[in-house]
Amino acid sequence: MCAHLSHQSNLVIEGLHKSFPTRDSEVVALKEINLTIGEGEFVAIVGASGCGKSTLLRIVAGLENGYDGAVSLGNRPIAGPGLDRGMVFQEHRLLPWLTVEENVAFGLNGRANGERERIVREHLALVGLSDFAKAHPHQLSGGMAQRVAIARSLVNQPGLLLLDEPFGALDALTRIQMQQEILRIWEAERTTMVLVTHDIDEALYLGDRVVVMSSRPGTVKRIIHVSLPRPRDRSSYEFVQLRKEIYAEFFSEAEKPFAYAI
Ligand SMILES: Nc1ncnc2c1ncn2[C@@H]1O[C@H](COP(=O)(O)OP(=O)(O)O)[C@@H](O)[C@H]1O
Ligand SMILES: [Mg+2]
Repeated sequence: MCAHLSHQSNLVIEGLHKSFPTRDSEVVALKEINLTIGEGEFVAIVGASGCGKSTLLRIVAGLENGYDGAVSLGNRPIAGPGLDRGMVFQEHRLLPWLTVEENVAFGLNGRANGERERIVREHLALVGLSDFAKAHPHQLSGGMAQRVAIARSLVNQPGLLLLDEPFGALDALTRIQMQQEILRIWEAERTTMVLVTHDIDEALYLGDRVVVMSSRPGTVKRIIHVSLPRPRDRSSYEFVQLRKEIYAEFFSEAEKPFAYAI
């Protein structure tokens, strides 16, 4: 299949600081973020809503400018969007008037026709949707549409895939299936993956490391190494202990105002 990585993908984030102006002052979205992600690693980032997760991914994707600090991929500073990075969002963002195969082919420019077809075919097989090549997005379930979005994000063989709450709009069971699916794809493709989620179990099920972010301003509060073998058993003692640790990180922050009130 499409297993060769064509881009160096060591991601290095140093002293990253990002603020957005407001009418009378500014919102500090990210403060002093330092994070190095190795080639082929799966890193999950968890944090409360508004803690800067999407901003961080958008900076790595090259979609956000005007920050302090340095962000580089494979020793090259990130200076804008590029084919070395793929991105998947919470909404599938498929074009409704195109078929599944046309949507997957959409980002593939400048290739000979036969090669385009081969690449699209391979990627539809990768996400298990070969039989739906001619379908339109409205004919797909939410999980299937998100698989198409994943296939589309991988056609240019990016070294790094950025996933911003990709399963956030799916029901609980589909979500678990999609987590298994992304794991299978990661194991097949060895693409470096950075997955942002507010689902602690999802982060622990998938990540080699779980980065816990604090909110306002968004900082890296703690990094937890998850050395459990895959596929992980969510009810195992070790998994449950790690879940407790991450919950404790959140509640130590969230419960402060409540503790003061009683
Ligand atoms: N374009 C923008 N303009 C102003 N403020 C923004 C913008 N994007 C994000 N923010 C603010 O930055 C903070 C982090 O947002 P975001 O990265 O979307 O968080 P998350 O993805 O963790 O929910 C929030 O307080 C949000 O309101
Ligand atoms: Mg977000």
